[in-house]
Amino acid sequence: MSRTPLRIVVGITGGIAAYKAVSVVREFVKDGHHVDVIATEAALQFVGRPTLEAISRNPVHVGLYDDVAQVRHVALGQQADVIVIAPATANTLAQISSGLAPDLLGNTVLARRGPLVVAPAMHTEMWDNPATQSNIATLISRGVIVVGPGVGQLTGSDSGVGRMSEPEDIVEATYASVSSDVYRDLVGKRILITGGGTREPLDPVRFIGNRSSGKQAVALAQRALARGAEVTLVASHLEVEPPTGVQVLSVSTAAQMQEAVLSSAHDFDIVIMAAAVSDYRVDAVSSTKIKKSESEGRLHISLVENTDILRELVQTKSSGQIIVGFAAETASGSELLELAQEKLKRKGCDYLVVNQVGWDQGFATESNAVTVIASGGDILNTANGTKLSVADTILDCITSSPFQNA
Ligand code: CTP
Repeated sequence: MSRTPLRIVVGITGGIAAYKAVSVVREFVKDGHHVDVIATEAALQFVGRPTLEAISRNPVHVGLYDDVAQVRHVALGQQADVIVIAPATANTLAQISSGLAPDLLGNTVLARRGPLVVAPAMHTEMWDNPATQSNIATLISRGVIVVGPGVGQLTGSDSGVGRMSEPEDIVEATYASVSSDVYRDLVGKRILITGGGTREPLDPVRFIGNRSSGKQAVALAQRALARGAEVTLVASHLEVEPPTGVQVLSVSTAAQMQEAVLSSAHDFDIVIMAAAVSDYRVDAVSSTKIKKSESEGRLHISLVENTDILRELVQTKSSGQIIVGFAAETASGSELLELAQEKLKRKGCDYLVVNQVGWDQGFATESNAVTVIASGGDILNTANGTKLSVADTILDCITSSPFQNA
């Protein structure tokens, strides 16, 4: 995202994911930035100093008392445009949330002037520990950007939440944090985002669903949070972990999503309906498993229409509130835009984010291509890229809104 050469401090602490920090450093250097690596003594047990020096093309800083004449314990933090700690262990998170500075990294963090991005990595039990969760909440409340952790294989045979985010996600979050035009422009805003695909049960074991993964909604939540908003995510069968710091309300059916959204919408400045909501539900859900033997070769299911949550939101919206809808269409070109304009009129929302979907497009992919249309029908912007960058474009359109609350 950012192409201006930056001074970036990459803090590496003692976790097995330290080896992935090498890729983070490599990406920054490849993009033309100056990188100072600060490694803790523990980090050097996991990744070698020569590797870090070769990749960063700079000496690696470790000791608090090395090169004291340069007042490095303060200078590195003051000069940095951004500090990224990857991996950030539970111990490091505890230290920085308490303002402790027992080592060079701690001092640098305290003396910083720019944003701080942390990518936690630890075992699930350590992540779930109330002490860690409270430290994370403190850091988020102070504007620290937390990337991940993701879910997956951990050190050893266990797997779960705690895996460090992928290097490209950490790099992207870092660039977004220093992009001055978007940085912290949603402070004080409360945003409700829906995401994922609802499921309508047929019987206790089957459902009718859709292919939405919730990735675009999660990216929106992540970027809104990083830009300072208080974010609630109404999540329906997400295939990815929601970002740390977002309040999550889990639902399954369209009716449950309707209840969760409509009962709380009045508390929010902005509501973004990114979820793929089932248009229909099964008229009579069977309480027992439907048996093939009873269907005589053909099964008839009667479906009834669900409430259009977006339309209800528009009809009940409070003054100054912004309602954003999504339109998933398989059409392309001018037909796509015509359908979108028609949908915008029908729904009456302030913005409609149009995205083309298909067998291999839009769903479950890492990228997206969207067009944002304003209520009068004007095309405000288009975006084609990672779901995080698309999220920023959508939020940019909203923050420049003439409807926005003062
Ligand atoms: N939506 C909703 N409630 C529903 C169905 C959809 O709030 N029961 C919202 C979606 O979250 C999205 C927007 O309406 O923001 C458009 O959804 P989409 O499926 O594209 O449009 P539909 O209204 O369902 O129309 P169609 O399926 O005929 O294209």
